[in-house]
Amino acid sequence: MRVIAVDGPAASGKGTLARRLAQHFGLAHLDTGLLYRAVGWQVRDDIGNSAAAVQAARAFDIDWLRIPELRGEAAGQAASKISAIPQVREALLEFQRSFCRQPLGAVLDGRDIGTVICPEAPAKLFVTASVEVRAGRRHRELQAREIPSIYAEVLQDLIERDARDSQRTAAPMKAADDALLLDTSGLDADQAFDAALSYISPRI
Ligand code: C5P
Repeated sequence: MRVIAVDGPAASGKGTLARRLAQHFGLAHLDTGLLYRAVGWQVRDDIGNSAAAVQAARAFDIDWLRIPELRGEAAGQAASKISAIPQVREALLEFQRSFCRQPLGAVLDGRDIGTVICPEAPAKLFVTASVEVRAGRRHRELQAREIPSIYAEVLQDLIERDARDSQRTAAPMKAADDALLLDTSGLDADQAFDAALSYISPRI
């Protein structure tokens, strides 16, 4: 099985890394955060309504992944709330597992790929960076996209999101026992890629 599981908190660099790894090894790539963002976006006006979120997750449609607003902060916040609901996670499980089973192999990035979605993956990374470094990256990225951003607010948002993701009972964010911990605080994208590559290459 040629599967690379890339987990870690928001703005750790895991998405960029996962895309590069997929390209390098010729594997399909799934950003699983987009699934939760798509479901959160569907119910954004009624975010406290768990039944509606579960219904939306069960009706999940791959076309939802093309909604441009999914990359924004509002969708991220909505995703972080509905992703704590066990039945939402359950409804999105099979889509992710079947993505792992593609004959050509796959890279999936998220929070629980190495622990829940694909525990048998031969190569697992848990990508981290200090919350200040991540907030700085996210802040600069938003500014580069000409989206108004205040560093202190981005930092607060990440702190809250980390707490929700790691403290929930349903598939909390955590490193698999057999994952490589990759702290990108002092690394640029190329250095993170090189470190990941030397770990993964002998494994897949
Ligand atoms: O990675 P991204 O920021 O797009 O994820 C948005 C939210 O979706 C996360 O804060 C997390 O709550 C949820 N998520 C999850 N499990 C995944 C991927 C994302 O719970 N595998």
